[in-house]
Amino acid sequence: MAKKTDEFVCQNCGAAYKRWQGKCDACGEWNTISEESAATERMFSGPGRPPRKGKPFPLAPLAGEQKEAPRIASGNAEFDRVAGGGLVPGSVLLVGGDPGIGKSTLLIQIAGALAAAGHRAVYITGEESVAQVRLRAERLGLTRLPVELAAETSVEDIVATLSQGRVPRLVVIDSIQTMWTDMVESSPGTVTQVRASAQLLIRFAKRAGAAVILVGHVTKDGQIAGPRVVEHMVDAVLSFEGEGGHHFRILRAVKNRFGPTDEIGVFEMTGGGLSEVANPSALFLSERDLGAPGTAVFAGMEGTRPLLVEMQALVAPTSLGTPRRAVVGWDPSRLAMVLAVLEAHCGVKLGGYDVYLNVAGGLRIQEPAADLAAAAALVSSLAKTPLPADAVHFGEVSLSGAVRPVSHAPARLKEAQKLGFARAVVPDATRGAERDGLALAPVASLTDLVARIVPG
Ligand code: TYD
Ligand code: MG
Repeated sequence: MAKKTDEFVCQNCGAAYKRWQGKCDACGEWNTISEESAATERMFSGPGRPPRKGKPFPLAPLAGEQKEAPRIASGNAEFDRVAGGGLVPGSVLLVGGDPGIGKSTLLIQIAGALAAAGHRAVYITGEESVAQVRLRAERLGLTRLPVELAAETSVEDIVATLSQGRVPRLVVIDSIQTMWTDMVESSPGTVTQVRASAQLLIRFAKRAGAAVILVGHVTKDGQIAGPRVVEHMVDAVLSFEGEGGHHFRILRAVKNRFGPTDEIGVFEMTGGGLSEVANPSALFLSERDLGAPGTAVFAGMEGTRPLLVEMQALVAPTSLGTPRRAVVGWDPSRLAMVLAVLEAHCGVKLGGYDVYLNVAGGLRIQEPAADLAAAAALVSSLAKTPLPADAVHFGEVSLSGAVRPVSHAPARLKEAQKLGFARAVVPDATRGAERDGLALAPVASLTDLVARIVPG
């Protein structure tokens, strides 16, 4: 019989302590440590089964073995791309996002799509009643599909139910925070419970060869609440994001054992659920403020897909001792660098100005290729000179002020041409890549860019 001890577990990161303390040493959070009974040993040691010898296998594939994990495409192109081409049987995926962002809506739609293709898809809710889920499915026009619904929170019961009948292709658990198991004595919602429940569901997925999607709520600071520990246990972590007030939602891979992590899927929340956005550039540029100074279109890449977005800058005289620098959707340290290069090499004095930079549409850009568009927007705002509405920009700025080439230039230019842009401000090295109807304006340095916007 395992000795019953109590321990103190950080509800943010899962670190365990012998006694209570105010601050978690592991993640640095305050007031997140609470007492839990630690009966976890039972789960991992148990009365003991006879030891089994592990059999080693050669790294080279055995005859008849599949080279790649087979995938089940859900038919939802945006979701499948982010997941790496579809769901991998036996894998576990965690989908995180703010409450109300549309996680349940997305996953009932995915379950519906798989059921429509003849697979067994099960949707288990611990948050809503079956009637509520059915009401939503009705709104989404999914009620005729054979998705199995259950309102259940006991993992043992769930696994027992799932083990009956045909092996499900997909099991959605909405949400992992509401699940609990008899294996541990802590109350539902605690890190220990969440971790143990996830462990049992992962074991089920591997054993049965079903794909399991866990829904996880996100805390204010963007971590998947409590079960940050779960992130390490699952095969892929997708984050579902969106800006309040905007209708579009972005599904982004944060971790993926079976696919790339730089892909995004774009959806629009409509009255009839989430619809896929096949051409996100058109959507992100649809609310453009034409002719206003301080905006520049960036020809970016998200994974394998080009994406045009508007970068907006506001440069205004400051009334504070230390001017403000605020960024939404881009890296603040890259903004600081672009400002420093403008000051040091181009004679653009910004010390007395507040600087705000915003990526339109709630998108988050991670590429250094956005440097040139950010610089163009900043200079345009400072000079109160609008940039040509038919121009896109891309290029990385180095500390010396040189504009460096970036990857995927042809794909970026093709997207710009497709959306009717007539010119592209690009690094000098991209010279010669013009396309029909799209002229290039190569710039070798930021000084060249400033001279283009403010001649003389
Ligand atoms: P939901 O999927 O319940 O979010 P989560 O599971 O992430 O908490 O979505 C809730 C929001 O989505 C809610 O504010 C209403 C909106 N919504 C629509 O706009 N259209 C729809 O068809 C549906 C089902 C929801
Ligand atoms: Mg929900």
